[in-house]
Amino acid sequence: MSDEKVSLIKEASDIVDVVGSYISLKPVGATFKGLCPFHDDHRPSFDVDPRRGRYRCWSCGKYGDVISFVQEFEKVEFTEALDILARRAGITIEKCKNFLQNQTRGSMLDSVRWAAEQYHQCLQESTLATEARNYLSGRGLEDEIIRQFGLGYAPRRGDWLVELAQSRGVDLNMLEQVGLIARRNEGPGFYDRFRDRVMFPIRNVMGNPVGFGGRILPGSPLAERAAKYYNSSDSPLFTKSEQLYGIDQARHVCAKVGYLAVVEGYTDVMMAHQMGIHQVVATMGTAINGRHLRQLRRWTNRVVLVFDADEGGDQGVDRALELFATHDMDLAVATLPGGLDPCDLLMRGGPEPFQKILDSAVEALEFKMSRLLPVTPGVEPAVEVSRRAMDVLLGILAKVPIDNNPSSALKVQLMMGRIARRLGVLETTLWQRMKEMKTSQPVERRENTPEPPKAKAAPEEIELVEVLLSAPFLVARACQEISLDTLEHPGLRKICAILFEIQAEGKTPDVDEVRVRLGDSPVATRVLDLADHGRRNNEPEAWYAQVVAFFQERIKKPQLRDLKEKLQVTADHENALELLKKLQTCSVNQTAGTVAVTVPANSPGDGGF
Ligand code: UTP
Ligand code: MN
Repeated sequence: MSDEKVSLIKEASDIVDVVGSYISLKPVGATFKGLCPFHDDHRPSFDVDPRRGRYRCWSCGKYGDVISFVQEFEKVEFTEALDILARRAGITIEKCKNFLQNQTRGSMLDSVRWAAEQYHQCLQESTLATEARNYLSGRGLEDEIIRQFGLGYAPRRGDWLVELAQSRGVDLNMLEQVGLIARRNEGPGFYDRFRDRVMFPIRNVMGNPVGFGGRILPGSPLAERAAKYYNSSDSPLFTKSEQLYGIDQARHVCAKVGYLAVVEGYTDVMMAHQMGIHQVVATMGTAINGRHLRQLRRWTNRVVLVFDADEGGDQGVDRALELFATHDMDLAVATLPGGLDPCDLLMRGGPEPFQKILDSAVEALEFKMSRLLPVTPGVEPAVEVSRRAMDVLLGILAKVPIDNNPSSALKVQLMMGRIARRLGVLETTLWQRMKEMKTSQPVERRENTPEPPKAKAAPEEIELVEVLLSAPFLVARACQEISLDTLEHPGLRKICAILFEIQAEGKTPDVDEVRVRLGDSPVATRVLDLADHGRRNNEPEAWYAQVVAFFQERIKKPQLRDLKEKLQVTADHENALELLKKLQTCSVNQTAGTVAVTVPANSPGDGGF
């Protein structure tokens, strides 16, 4: 996406208009005030400044421009926010075409939506879909909910969608890319990947269909050979392992309810909605993983995993415990009565029993402990039972990477305390035992290893990024004078790398372009802040020179340390003299081996890194 597109969209999106369509704003002097949508605000702390195109909450500190407002409010990424704004501003698809084609994302979305409409219409009206309609009503799903979730039917024929697309002039290559049709092995042309299946459109957080799950009709002649369920293949729109079914609807209620519940199937989600329980989502037939949690974390900090009674004992819960320890959120476990899934339970008993199960969800650690150590009143658990429980629990916690991760470390510490109390052993005994376990079986790195912890950035690194973001003309010099390896903070290094990359392409490395390239990287939201802080300094060149001087000092520091170490271990007098001389020349400007920090007068400080 080009710079011009971003600025075109930005220009067309008056910040007061846009923010004013989400919350109510009142003019007060030169700015507009309202209740902050990002925290529980009781008096108007939210300020929108049309001249500077910025909003700020004086109470919770949220700050940004029209794009970041949409990002925050809608909980979407940068490009999605742009898309929303473009549509809102009525920037015609004509004007946006480059942007959409560029990413092919727009046309992919269009073709999935088109297919969803065809399947849906077929289910509603076609004589081909009689059995499908019967199947769904047999499962207790009402028309209203079927419409709301946009269910459809893919006929048995095998070229139904292909022919329909051809007759309507829909791009077959696009349908192939989104995993709905495939090329024939022999002969030209395509065939439908979904046949004789009820189609569940899978929607992204914005409610746009991005893929499908298809369930074979039970009476289908294809049922014997084909899988009961499958999904459209992964595409730039759809990643099976991180998608959550129903999130587009559930996200609206979870703030009020305080959690999201994760169940297994599409029909479970739909039936819950039909019964008025809206805080429910499902994974795509896979166990919940770290990527799911990161998605969920955008809306809530409490997740309730709904397990089958017989699943609860094994892997599912262990895995959940591990996830719980490595992610900054509460994870609770709810169990269903034997053999029933939520859909069955809801159909039999209405909403109350299911709601009760959700309400009585137990924290993951508590749940695991009570399974390992069932409490019989008046009876102590057998020693052997306790010992085994200890090993199981420690075995799970041993997998949690806690080095360099203060929040996981803290969580593990708290959990160890709880386990110690429950087992009646000393905490130190547990730590000792865990250490033994860790050394006897090295921990493999796992898919859910948390992102690198938020490192504390050195002030000079923050300032370098601030000055470059606020004065792009300096980037050309920085490419020559600063080596990326000298930046230690991973986020800041990434921003710098992107600035250099844009410069190398001969473009202007400005803030918006950087944000486009950062995508949903955790530092993306900070970029604007850094740039604005930077702009407060009105002598960027002098500031930049100071920052560079700093970096040069910093490069000397390890050399110094190295020399000192050599000096300490050398036995040879000649050699020692030589080293001492080098050390003296190297540390001319330095006091006691530490870098003297001269922060520019109007430096904004460490900006929260
Ligand atoms: P199951 O295969 O256990 O289905 O997949 P089920 O619950 O027995 O199926 P029904 O109730 O007879 O229809 C459980 C759920 O996992 C999802 C579907 O939502 C399914 O309901 N799933 C499964 C997928 O999304 N993709 C898959 O490839 C498989
Ligand atoms: Mn089921």
